[in-house]
Amino acid sequence: MSEPRKILVTSALPYANGSIHLGHMLEYIQTDMWVRFQKHRGNQCIYVCADDAHGSAIMLRAEKEGITPEQLIANVQAEHSADFADFLVDFDNFHSTHAEENRELSSQIYLKLRDAGHIATRSITQYFDPEKKMFLADRFIKGTCPKCGTEDQYGDNCEKCGATYAPTDLKDPKSAISGATPVLKDSQHFFFKLPDFQEMLQTWTRSGTLQDAVANKIAEWLDAGLQQWDISRDAPYFGFEIPGEPGKYFYVWLDAPIGYMASFKNLCNRTPELDFDAFWGKDSTAELYHFIGKDIVNFHALFWPAMLEGAGYRKPTGINVHGYLTVNGQKMSKSRGTFIKARTYLDHLSPEYLRYYYAAKLGRGVDDLDLNLEDFVQKVNSDLVGKVVNIASRCAGFINKGNAGVMVDTNAAPELTEAFLAAAPSIADAYEARDFARAMREIMGLADRANAWIADKAPWSLNKQEGKQDEVQAICATGINLFRQLVIFLKPVLPLLAADAEAFLNVAPLTWNDHATLLANHQLNEFKPLMTRIDPVKVQAMTDASKEDLTASQTDTGAAAPAGNGELAKDPLSPEIDFDTFAAVDLRVALIVKAEHVEGADKLLRLTLDIGDEQRNVFSGIKSAYPDPSRLDGRLTMMIANLKPRKMKFGISEGMVMAAGPGGEEIYLLSPDSGAKPGQRIK
Ligand code: MSP
Ligand code: ZN
Repeated sequence: MSEPRKILVTSALPYANGSIHLGHMLEYIQTDMWVRFQKHRGNQCIYVCADDAHGSAIMLRAEKEGITPEQLIANVQAEHSADFADFLVDFDNFHSTHAEENRELSSQIYLKLRDAGHIATRSITQYFDPEKKMFLADRFIKGTCPKCGTEDQYGDNCEKCGATYAPTDLKDPKSAISGATPVLKDSQHFFFKLPDFQEMLQTWTRSGTLQDAVANKIAEWLDAGLQQWDISRDAPYFGFEIPGEPGKYFYVWLDAPIGYMASFKNLCNRTPELDFDAFWGKDSTAELYHFIGKDIVNFHALFWPAMLEGAGYRKPTGINVHGYLTVNGQKMSKSRGTFIKARTYLDHLSPEYLRYYYAAKLGRGVDDLDLNLEDFVQKVNSDLVGKVVNIASRCAGFINKGNAGVMVDTNAAPELTEAFLAAAPSIADAYEARDFARAMREIMGLADRANAWIADKAPWSLNKQEGKQDEVQAICATGINLFRQLVIFLKPVLPLLAADAEAFLNVAPLTWNDHATLLANHQLNEFKPLMTRIDPVKVQAMTDASKEDLTASQTDTGAAAPAGNGELAKDPLSPEIDFDTFAAVDLRVALIVKAEHVEGADKLLRLTLDIGDEQRNVFSGIKSAYPDPSRLDGRLTMMIANLKPRKMKFGISEGMVMAAGPGGEEIYLLSPDSGAKPGQRIK
């Protein structure tokens, strides 16, 4: 046996201003399966992560919610941690970038870079919001496209005509935060001199650290020549102040990757046998891998290795990049109910279904991965329930009834057992290379062979014949041994199934090397169903609930502030409509007969509306502004009366009421002047 490897692994640090969704989860599940595989094989493998807690988006969201950034990030960290734990993502440490270890490491790395001459300063001119007294990042400026004249375009590109420009080219610019007209203002900024590292990066990015497709993309950037990187932001900013530069803060992306080190440091501080320098020191012999999505490659394959080199640390062994998740062939969509939060999924389905589906579709490339919900149900049911678990359920009963649960010492299929053993190195290579799809294909190929063999031997018919008991017992003991081998191969993907199987098999936790042995003369425990089929009704309920999240969050985000993840900001909020489309909308005055809480809904109120000739039941995401709904009773408002009724988790919603405002407490239900009568049409 070779020496166990020492491996440190990270996933990208999720932003602390929003919930984890199934797109994020692709990354954390991918990383977790790889880490579990390494541990299964007996390697020392440490998996750290943290919330990415800094930046203006987080500062502004906290302000909007009327809490401090510290409160916001504590709330989000609790939510994220629960989501990860429930998806069986097993971090050795989950920290925060807003932590003392990170402040120290960030300052120290910055000072080393500065002292080595890698930091430059110069003044830059930027838009400044005179009301909020803050400089505005591109995404916080709105205006009219200089090319096609479309109003209300964000920052530096036009959604209508696709033009790109500097924010200073926008006509009639406005701050998206306060609505004020921004003014141009100068300020001193700090830059990391990335071009100093051009040669090192040219070599490093071609030394097997990156997938080919990623290395090619980086080569384009390197050929185009590297630019200095602006690493400072002016107050007010939620982050770390730059040492010796009052009022200047590190840009969030400067201290975010240092958060990987800080999380590990925090773990070292309470784990005496772990040595920080053995993993991060210049002469470290440990392996270091960062798992990331394709959108953040520049930060990890250019800025990060350059920072590490400049500050005297080791560089990563590999950056493992994955593609984006699509659902049913399209970008995740709130209105289609395919923008699915981790928690919404967990409310309806078991985490291992998704872990298996992702594994079955994840190759080592950077292609996008499609979660097709029909295929998901079909594949999980056919592979896990129909193939793997089926082997055990076909065999367990006969051993239990015919031999008091004891597996006999006869191998009825030596060739098949040999084939399973022979397949192990190739399956291990696939896992090692992150080619989970190939590993799953090979494992399911083995499961097919085991099932075909059992079907051929048909212990259920033999069992009815005189004098065939020994044969039945031999077949079933062999079947259970094959099942056990499959469980060993699948354990990194399905840790819960493996734990339940270990309980049934009455064995200590299985490790990879156990695949080379067989159970004989062995007492089993009672067999309980190890996994149930996915009921498609639950998948439907999950997408319905995701639409409910939408109704609530649409009112929440409103139009004023761009959503942190850009999802809503990208939807054209008000495309032009013709008069007929407008005339088709049936707007009515509605009397709120009753407004009440909905059990189990965080954001919705149930409104009973009187529109003259009938009553309507409407769910509306306005609870945050009307915590005491009874104050709405008897009030007039306006509703869209001919909206197609929508089935939601809590019932059918028969229309929508109209409200304005950015969300949270600032939602204002619209009302007609007094004198209007319920049911009157609005023209
Ligand atoms: N905070 C930064 C990362 C800092 S790392 C030093 C960030 N956060 S994020 O929350 O936006 O994304 C976290 C990870 O999830 C990223 O690797 C990102 O690529 C990944 N994904 C986010 N949406 C995704 C999909 N729809 N599909 C697959 N991965 C996705 O970026
Ligand atoms: Zn335009």
